[in-house]
Amino acid sequence: MARVSGGAQGRAQQVAEAALPILAAAGAGPWLVANDETGRITDALGATPWSRWYRGAQAGTLAPPAGPCAQAALRIPKDRDGLAYAAHQLAARLPAGGHLWVYGHNDEGIKSAGKRLVGPLFATADTIASRRHCRIWRLVRTDAPAAPGLDPWWTQRAVPVAGAPRPWWSLPGLFAKGGLDAATALLLDSVAAHPPAGPAVLDFAAGTGLIAASLAAAWPGATLTATDADALAVEATRRNAPEVEAVGGDAWSALAGRRFDCVVSNPPIHDGKAEDFSALRQLITEAPQHLTPGGELWLVAQKQVPVQALLDQVFGQVKLHADDPRFRVWRARLTQERT
Ligand SMILES: C[S@@+](CC[C@H](N)C(=O)[O-])C[C@H]1O[C@@H](n2cnc3c(N)ncnc32)[C@H](O)[C@@H]1O
Repeated sequence: MARVSGGAQGRAQQVAEAALPILAAAGAGPWLVANDETGRITDALGATPWSRWYRGAQAGTLAPPAGPCAQAALRIPKDRDGLAYAAHQLAARLPAGGHLWVYGHNDEGIKSAGKRLVGPLFATADTIASRRHCRIWRLVRTDAPAAPGLDPWWTQRAVPVAGAPRPWWSLPGLFAKGGLDAATALLLDSVAAHPPAGPAVLDFAAGTGLIAASLAAAWPGATLTATDADALAVEATRRNAPEVEAVGGDAWSALAGRRFDCVVSNPPIHDGKAEDFSALRQLITEAPQHLTPGGELWLVAQKQVPVQALLDQVFGQVKLHADDPRFRVWRARLTQERT
């Protein structure tokens, strides 16, 4: 069963509970089930699971695995572009007349989700059930072809990388739509003037790879690695910054046994709308296993996030390096006895 992160767990269970009886009565498979963090719907339907997200040991992928599919179910993704992308990838696997079921909580935008997907690929959208602030839509697949793959989904804009604008690629649902976020900019302004003692540098929760690419340009001797739990983010980093090693994984899971002289991060502190510090906690508490002796962690977070308390539990030296009205940048160093 897939792991569900702290703050989002109750919500994921609630929507799975609401959708399960409807899907169980919806007729024969084979089923494709996307974004089922609880694993309950996947297990109950004997379905093939798909997620773009790496969760625990489970790998995220760009598109559903190959194989027969008569019906598909989708837990609503966190944003509209991500919903359009996921529905398209599932449409590419559904037969004409096959059903796509989309479910979620009212707070997640489920009320309008079905109608938004009606178009060339889905002819009709009906609300089949609505209860306990959750809703389940049924859409009917048309016979219009749905091109699988990423080609139509790439967007490009100019983004400053180490001071010079660079064409920058993004995909649906990625952080800041591939732009330079204010927190990321503050972190880069802080860290770039402090090259690490050794060459191995990690961008943890890298998004489209902006921190990694900026530091590769600012620190010519550095070797950059970037990791993110979203398979689409990893793909975007590979396209934007071929000089960076990009690996998919949940928190540290792709980096077992590896150490870095410097780890730099604008970590996730939300899962959808809910605050969720689980990746931030993993970043900090497992950092000693991944830093070289004397290695440093730089991170940025919104002011209200209790970063100092977490850092103090793990690091010998903790400094508030930048403090603006919204964000703080922290610099933490391991002392020898804690490595
Ligand atoms: C605040 S964004 C920062 C993106 C990028 N570093 C930047 O500054 O533009 C956080 C990133 O964390 C990723 N993420 C969320 N949960 C994660 C997890 N458990 N492990 C690794 N990355 C995760 C998201 O996909 C997202 O790209």
